[in-house]
Amino acid sequence: MYIYPVSIPAEKYNHEWGTIMAKEFIRLRDCTMVFDDDVVLNKINLTIKDNEFLTLLGPSGCGKTTTLRIIGGFVKPTSGDVFFNGVRINDVPPHKRTVNTVFQKYALFPHLNVYENIAFGLRIKPRGKAAMKNGHEGRRLSKDEIHSRVMEMLEVVSLKGFEYRDVTSLSGGQQQRVAIARALVNRPKVLLLDEPLGALDLRLRKDMQIELKRIQEATGITFIYVTHDQEEALSMSDTVVVMDGGVIQQIGTPEDIYNEPVNAFVADFIGESNIVDGIMVEDGVVEIFGKKFACLDEGFDPMEPVDVVIRPEDVDIVDIKDGMLTGTVTNITFKGVHYDVIVDFKGFKWLIQTTDYCPANSRIGIKIDPDGIHVMKKSVYSGMYGDYSSYSAEYEDISDADLEPEETVSEDERYET
Ligand SMILES: Nc1ncnc2c1ncn2[C@@H]1O[C@H](COP(=O)(O)OP(=O)(O)OP(=O)(O)O)[C@@H](O)[C@H]1O
Ligand SMILES: [Mg+2]
Repeated sequence: MYIYPVSIPAEKYNHEWGTIMAKEFIRLRDCTMVFDDDVVLNKINLTIKDNEFLTLLGPSGCGKTTTLRIIGGFVKPTSGDVFFNGVRINDVPPHKRTVNTVFQKYALFPHLNVYENIAFGLRIKPRGKAAMKNGHEGRRLSKDEIHSRVMEMLEVVSLKGFEYRDVTSLSGGQQQRVAIARALVNRPKVLLLDEPLGALDLRLRKDMQIELKRIQEATGITFIYVTHDQEEALSMSDTVVVMDGGVIQQIGTPEDIYNEPVNAFVADFIGESNIVDGIMVEDGVVEIFGKKFACLDEGFDPMEPVDVVIRPEDVDIVDIKDGMLTGTVTNITFKGVHYDVIVDFKGFKWLIQTTDYCPANSRIGIKIDPDGIHVMKKSVYSGMYGDYSSYSAEYEDISDADLEPEETVSEDERYET
């Protein structure tokens, strides 16, 4: 569903929404932000394309909101530049940036109904030369124009028929959609969304994720979305920007980020992963726990120490005599579709997801196909993640006190030659 062509003349549509599609739109160049001697953003470089759904993802305090505020013009970077369509806009104030923002705590006007909440933005639209330069019409909209824009927005956010409802009588998800309609009605080129679904329960969050993606596709507006929820980021975005400690760790499609994490932080933050020390023997061969495994990675130095990430779903449990490695099951948990199995390999615990039941204390073999192994350069994050006994909150109670460690070791050794 394309909403804008309805009320924007074809030439303008082509110019504003069509022909610049997929071109560079916003660029942050070496943006650094320092608060009270604290470097909270460190030389951020980021290009955002027109019509893109880009998500800033990372743990609390990593600098997501600060990045968004720099794009919105609410704060100026301590150093570095911000460009919109190739023009440096460091000194352009927020209301002249054709950017709108939806925050986690969106404040609807409780005394206005749904219609008036959405129309409000049109009645206070910036006017004059500066506004025109930034894509606003710079003239007073007629009552009919306001009406058609509000109705258009109600359709975009699937709230047709709700126009005269009191906003306080709406559900959380409906209120959130009014907030989005209100932010979109001015036809910003960019919508900044800072954890807008944070206050909603899980079910509503999931529904709204689908809804937001649909709205973004229908309007063609660039969405810059902030979340610390990796699943949300993967399911909605064209591009995910993973941040930690004020530094961009990786930029890529959801598939890239999941399948080809650049370091142990990204591998750990996105999905579940087993991260172990390895040695890159040569192109296509990596050594883990003293055993050689075929992999698809290349371009490392011979015998370079590396981090190896293996996703829990990429490990096959096999008969002990066929195993590339052998270990002992310390815990098994039914998860509905699969079992989460914790397996101890010489004191290092892996998470394996499988549909096969294997009882606690049993000894198993594992096989990993070459494409299930991903090799990463060593980084400051090496050694911090990967062992399920040391960091996973869900499995923190797991202890192998009821096992006999010495026997485990000797069994491992027996199958290891
Ligand atoms: N105005 C400010 N003055 C001082 N420090 C600030 C200011 N704004 C942000 N910070 C600090 O900058 C760091 C990054 O903050 P930011 O709000 O960008 O993080 P975030 O990634 O959005 O985190 P969260 O997920 O918790 O919202 C934090 O340590 C924060 O305390
Ligand atoms: Mg934040």
